[in-house]
Amino acid sequence: MYGLAGAAEWPVIQQLLPDLEGKRIVDLGCGFGWFCRFALEQGAAKVLGVDISEKMLSRARDMSPSAIEYRRADLETLTLPESSYDLVYSSLVLHYLEHLAAVFAVVHRALVSAGDFVFSMEHPIYMAPEHPGWLLSEPGTRIWPVSHYAEEGRRTTNWLTSGVVKYHRMLATTLNMLIRSGFILCQMEEFAPTQEQIAAHPALAEERHRPMFLIVKARRDN
Ligand SMILES: C[S@@+](CC[C@H](N)C(=O)[O-])C[C@H]1O[C@@H](n2cnc3c(N)ncnc32)[C@H](O)[C@@H]1O
Repeated sequence: MYGLAGAAEWPVIQQLLPDLEGKRIVDLGCGFGWFCRFALEQGAAKVLGVDISEKMLSRARDMSPSAIEYRRADLETLTLPESSYDLVYSSLVLHYLEHLAAVFAVVHRALVSAGDFVFSMEHPIYMAPEHPGWLLSEPGTRIWPVSHYAEEGRRTTNWLTSGVVKYHRMLATTLNMLIRSGFILCQMEEFAPTQEQIAAHPALAEERHRPMFLIVKARRDN
């Protein structure tokens, strides 16, 4: 358990975040609440963490000051009060959601005008294959075969536990969904480790062969 610092993509996400001082923030799929605690430490005025797993939330509550509110909810049916958050954050959760456009609409409505939506999710190049995995055909080569890219929808993988269900969408689909929901795209990153990160953690080197995470900053424009 290394928290935010243990996530190689965290330095990239951090660059996309606005100043959190005095902000009202919701973290969608907060897990153990690492970001919620970071936001409070940065001076956020109000922090809400939402997750479907009571197990995750119970650990989050144990590790957090009472100023952070945690709520159990399925993001697919979540409701949030209108124009009441300055930042909606979500890390590595949105690819689990079947009805992403509906969630973007909820986020858009919950943000104040010019409020920020910063999220990471699995990259479509990483998610597209029906059976994701490296091809190691020749010694020293490492290829990520992308297939079924335009076949959007359900993917079942066996990462950590078997039968994990995720939803693949083309890059354009996700970005157009944001635009149609009323967001302006501010910045997009495709995470790749730096040479410094690889020097410290050589196993990260393979992450330069294909993007594992898509990181987006969008803004409510009205
Ligand atoms: C990979 S973890 C990421 C946790 C945290 N955001 C982080 O970056 O450490 C995915 C989280 O999404 C939550 N989750 C998955 N589907 C969800 C849903 N439909 N509604 C709410 N939370 C969900 C899981 O319970 C889990 O805590």
